[in-house]
Amino acid sequence: MAGRTSDPRSLPIPTRIGGFGGVEGLVRFLRDECVKRVVDATHPFAALMSRNAAEACARTGVPLLALRRPAWMRQPRDCWIDVPNIGAAVRALGAEPRRVFLTVGRLELSSFAAAPQHSYLVRTIEPVGDALPVPNVVTIQNRGPFDEDAERALLLRERIEVVVTKNSGGAATYPKIAAARTLGLPVIVVARPEKPHGVEEVTCVDAVLEWLEQRHDRTP
Ligand SMILES: NC(=O)c1ccc[n+]([C@@H]2O[C@H](COP(=O)([O-])OP(=O)(O)OC[C@H]3O[C@@H](n4cnc5c(N)ncnc54)[C@H](OP(=O)(O)O)[C@@H]3O)[C@@H](O)[C@H]2O)c1
Repeated sequence: MAGRTSDPRSLPIPTRIGGFGGVEGLVRFLRDECVKRVVDATHPFAALMSRNAAEACARTGVPLLALRRPAWMRQPRDCWIDVPNIGAAVRALGAEPRRVFLTVGRLELSSFAAAPQHSYLVRTIEPVGDALPVPNVVTIQNRGPFDEDAERALLLRERIEVVVTKNSGGAATYPKIAAARTLGLPVIVVARPEKPHGVEEVTCVDAVLEWLEQRHDRTP
């Protein structure tokens, strides 16, 4: 696990938390632990981890499979404003003060300090401390899966005018997108960073298990 949440859900398999020390460290780990397969199941926005995995596997010859959650696709009644990165999302909010629902995680919140004229409702899994030093900010801590009716109620209660999200994909955090659609609210959608090319990809866990079986069959 990446160690980005202090109280992660427990898994029924041996677990380690944290980085390896770049590509060199990961290469060493793969060799020391005699790792036979690597599955890159990182968050869609964790570009560096995926790059490190691709490079370390290429160097060691360990087969790599990437589990990639499909991105959300714009639906007919969505009012999406697509932006390439967080900096562009900040600029897309514009000069006029707006009430913003910010659901981009904790790590890049500080970028929005460049637009202190807006009122922010920030929702994160972890406490954000003073990561967003602007005059008008309310923070809530909550972890998905979320419910569309509850999301709509939150957007209405807080008089939100625009939602900002990363295109994380998956069902757990999609209800804010669906709720914004029904309310006709604009959503600023941050595109995913590029992941390494040339890596075999699947989109569901069953396909990962199948891949492990197949490889296992072929390898003595
Ligand atoms: N990671 C998550 O669970 C998660 C969840 C939600 C959102 N995001 C979003 O993803 C973006 C970047 O996130 P990020 O900082 O987590 O990723 P990142 O930029 O891809 O990775 C940063 C460093 O994390 C270290 N690391 C920690 N645990 C690791 C592990 N288990 N396997 C491999 N490397 C590991 C690596 O350090 P070494 O080089 O020392 O190995 C890597 O260089 C942010 O926009 C964030 O909001 C991430």
